[in-house]
Amino acid sequence: MRDRDLADKTIVVTGASSGIGAVAAAELTARGATVAVVGRSPERTAEVARRAGAEAFLADFGRLDEVRALADRLLDRYPRIDVLANNAGGSWAKRTATDDGNELTFQVNHLAPFLLTGLLLDRLLQAPRPRVINTSSMTYRTAKLDPETANATTGSFSMLGAYSASKLANILFTRELARRTAGTGLVTAAFHPGAVATHVYDNIPFGVGLFVRSPLSRPFFIRPDKGAQPLVHLVATPDGEAINGRYFHRMKEERPRNKQALDDELAQRLWEFSEQITGVSTRPVD
Ligand SMILES: NC(=O)c1ccc[n+]([C@@H]2O[C@H](COP(=O)([O-])OP(=O)(O)OC[C@H]3O[C@@H](n4cnc5c(N)ncnc54)[C@H](OP(=O)(O)O)[C@@H]3O)[C@@H](O)[C@H]2O)c1
Repeated sequence: MRDRDLADKTIVVTGASSGIGAVAAAELTARGATVAVVGRSPERTAEVARRAGAEAFLADFGRLDEVRALADRLLDRYPRIDVLANNAGGSWAKRTATDDGNELTFQVNHLAPFLLTGLLLDRLLQAPRPRVINTSSMTYRTAKLDPETANATTGSFSMLGAYSASKLANILFTRELARRTAGTGLVTAAFHPGAVATHVYDNIPFGVGLFVRSPLSRPFFIRPDKGAQPLVHLVATPDGEAINGRYFHRMKEERPRNKQALDDELAQRLWEFSEQITGVSTRPVD
C-alpha cells in the first residue's frame, strides 16, 4: 500500500529543533505537508524551520505556561491540525523541581505532551483522519512507574529510572488515548526510534554524549536520518487501524515487554493524575 498523501496535512512536530525531530520535520515538509517546527532553542528551531521551509514555534516544556501559550499560537495559526508528533524529550542527571512543582524529566517527557495533546485534541478531532504519534524508548522495558513517585520532587533519583518511567508513561498514554477516542477516527501510536546518535545523551556524565556523536559510536548508534524513519512511517502509513494504540520497536510492532505497559488500570490512573496536575480535562468520547 502506498503512503498517505501528506500534501494537505498540517503536522506539528515537537522536539523538531534537533536530532530525530529535525530530520522528520524536513522529510514531512519535503512530502508536501505544512509542518510546525516546535523547539526550545530559538537559534536551532529557527535554523531547522528555515532549512525545511517550515514555520518555527518555541516552548520550554519545563514550563507548563509555555506549553499552554504554544497551544494557543498553534490553534490561532492552523484552522486544521492533522497530526501531532510528541517527540520532544530528554534526560536529566538530577531530580529537579520545575516552577510548576513537578519533576523535570516527568514534566518534559510526559506531562507537557499530555497537556499539549489535550489542548489540541478538539482541533485534531475535526481533521479527517488525525494522528497523535509519541516518541517513547525501549528503556520502558525495565521501567517501574508510579505516577506520584515519578513526579515527586524529593527523594532518591536515578537518571535512567526517571527517563524510562517517563517513556513507559508515553506508552500508557498512547493506549489510554486510543481507548478514550475509540470511534472518533483518531489514530495514535508510540515507538522506539533505535539507539540514535543525537544530543539526547548529552547530560549523561563522563562525556557519553560526545562519544555517541563521534564516528567511534557508529557500530552501536544509528544516525538521525534513520532514527526518524519510524516517526515518518507512523505519520504516513495508510492503514491507521493497524497501528492504533500500539507500540513499535523501530518499524516493527512489539507487544509491550513490561507488564505495567499493559496495565489498563495504571493507564487510567496516570491519565487522571496528569489531568489533575495539568488542569486539562479530556472526557472520554461517547
Ligand atoms: N536518541 C536516541 O537514542 C533515543 C532513543 C529512544 C528515544 N529517544 C527519544 O527521541 C526523542 C527525540 O530525541 P533525540 O534523540 O532526537 O534527541 P535531541 O537531538 O536531544 O532532541 C531532543 C529534542 O527535544 C527538545 N527538548 C528537550 N528538552 C526540552 C524542553 N525542556 N522543552 C522543549 N523541548 C525540549 C530539544 O529542543 P532544543 O534542542 O531546542 O533544546 C530537541 O528538539 C526524545 O523523546 C527521546 O527521548 C531517543
